[in-house]
Amino acid sequence: MKLGVNIDHVATLRQARGTVYPDPLDAAIHCARAGAHGITAHLREDRRHILDDDIYRLKELQPLPLNLEMANVESIVEIALSVRPAEVCLVPEKRQELTTEGGLDVIGHFDSLKDTVECLSEAGIEVSMFIDADLETLMACKDLGAPTVELHTGAYCDAEPNERAVLMEQLIRAADYAHDLGLKVNAGHGINMENLGGILCIPHLDTLNIGHSIICRAVFEGMENSVREMLEGMQDYAG
Ligand code: PXP
Repeated sequence: MKLGVNIDHVATLRQARGTVYPDPLDAAIHCARAGAHGITAHLREDRRHILDDDIYRLKELQPLPLNLEMANVESIVEIALSVRPAEVCLVPEKRQELTTEGGLDVIGHFDSLKDTVECLSEAGIEVSMFIDADLETLMACKDLGAPTVELHTGAYCDAEPNERAVLMEQLIRAADYAHDLGLKVNAGHGINMENLGGILCIPHLDTLNIGHSIICRAVFEGMENSVREMLEGMQDYAG
């Protein structure tokens, strides 16, 4: 199973201060050095973290395949066609949400999604649909011609431990069904070191896409070195 690292929240830190650092491109290079298999970035319509320029640089200047998360919106589809990432993951997007809240309504938006899947596929981009663990939605993804689905694991990951069994059953059933339909199965959202064990029970997984927990963990993994480095820099103070 592969790991795609979502580096959006490196850009969140940058945008919080309007600086040029931390650069998500540097983060991607570190991820590659650590053995990650792919980089995911979400170009949101409100550009709250990742910017257009980041997407171009992430495609050209780091070694891993880029998975561009995006809404099915004409202006963003145009950018995808210009950047040509290895993969596009179509997600629902609401301006006020803190993060992607649910899976795509593939049945409700079938016609417009079909056009987008067709034109991205013709450009040689693998199209993935970010969906809830729902069998009818999976069948609609198959009918759309999308080769890949990403199962939304957020409900499972955010649930209390005693509520997880039923949600895991749904994920397992969905993964089995997707596999039977010939779809490639990815999963993501809310995965961290505490809930990873459960996620590993989902069959047929190709890739896990994980962001927030890795970026949060990296803050503390780097904290002691960062403080030591600053203290060393202060040694030169002459008084
Ligand atoms: N997959 C998709 C489609 C997402 O929208 C996100 C969040 O941007 C992730 C995976 C990663 O989720 P998290 O940051 O909670 O690990």
